[in-house]
Amino acid sequence: MSSTADTRSTISTIASTSLGTLTQGDATAFLRSLPAQSARLVVTSPWFTGPFEPSSDDPTSPAFGDWLNGHLEDIARVLLPDGSVVFEAGCTWAVDRPVRTVQHYAALSRLLAGGEWHLLQEFHWYNPELLTANEEYVERRRSRLHDCVTNWYWLSRTPDVPADTRRVRGFQGHLTHPFGNFLTFGDSAADHDYLDAVRGPETQADRDRFPVAAPLYFIRLLTEEGEHVVDPFAGIGSTALAAESAGRTWSCNDFSVEAMTIAKQRIDNLRK
Ligand SMILES: C[S@@+](CC[C@H](N)C(=O)[O-])C[C@H]1O[C@@H](n2cnc3c(N)ncnc32)[C@H](O)[C@@H]1O
Repeated sequence: MSSTADTRSTISTIASTSLGTLTQGDATAFLRSLPAQSARLVVTSPWFTGPFEPSSDDPTSPAFGDWLNGHLEDIARVLLPDGSVVFEAGCTWAVDRPVRTVQHYAALSRLLAGGEWHLLQEFHWYNPELLTANEEYVERRRSRLHDCVTNWYWLSRTPDVPADTRRVRGFQGHLTHPFGNFLTFGDSAADHDYLDAVRGPETQADRDRFPVAAPLYFIRLLTEEGEHVVDPFAGIGSTALAAESAGRTWSCNDFSVEAMTIAKQRIDNLRK
């Protein structure tokens, strides 16, 4: 995605449908613009640099925890008391050594120790197109394997949230066996409709994304028709497309002009 962050506190409407609105602006301003207790689900994939920046001298850096806690305060206000937040986060690599950084584990431990949030379940997503941050050791030295699994964490402030696994029965396409919390619903490159909307060479925004099937899975598991879904780091708009197709209302946002341009085109394509 574009690294030229627009951190202005205003948010602008980029596109809207009868079910939802796409905005461009900072996630904090966006979350604070939403009504309290309005969303059943926040589903998102946050930034993998910045707070995720690998740190060779402190692989358990609290930076991601600080970042997560701040955003979860705003998310808690927007969510219904028994609403869910599901976010994707994976291990990454130290800058100059082939060792893992585990800021997200540190962040989760700290969050759960606070007592306000519960980890209801984690999901393991097989994503062969996962971006690697360790090319030196994976591609050149061949001493580490390519990462192809990332995790989703399902959190809420009460253990008793509405959820119905029957709504995702058969979701994982051709699979005949129940794979439980091992998700195989397609990789980062699974959606090609954006290609019609974007010209020029592949950009980070083309690759650093999840397919529509990812948010759709959690939307079906955790919401009913007409309920509200939010994505503050919506990238090229897969959550908006998923919510729209499932008949859920939605609010999606990103601060990247580049990503929002693609998201708008994808939403406009829905109307064609
Ligand atoms: C991993 S990408 C999300 C990709 C998205 N799930 C998709 O399918 O396109 C993370 C996104 O967070 C956005 N982002 C990072 N910090 C932000 C902030 N403070 N406010 C709004 N968006 C932000 C980036 O522009 C990027 O698009």
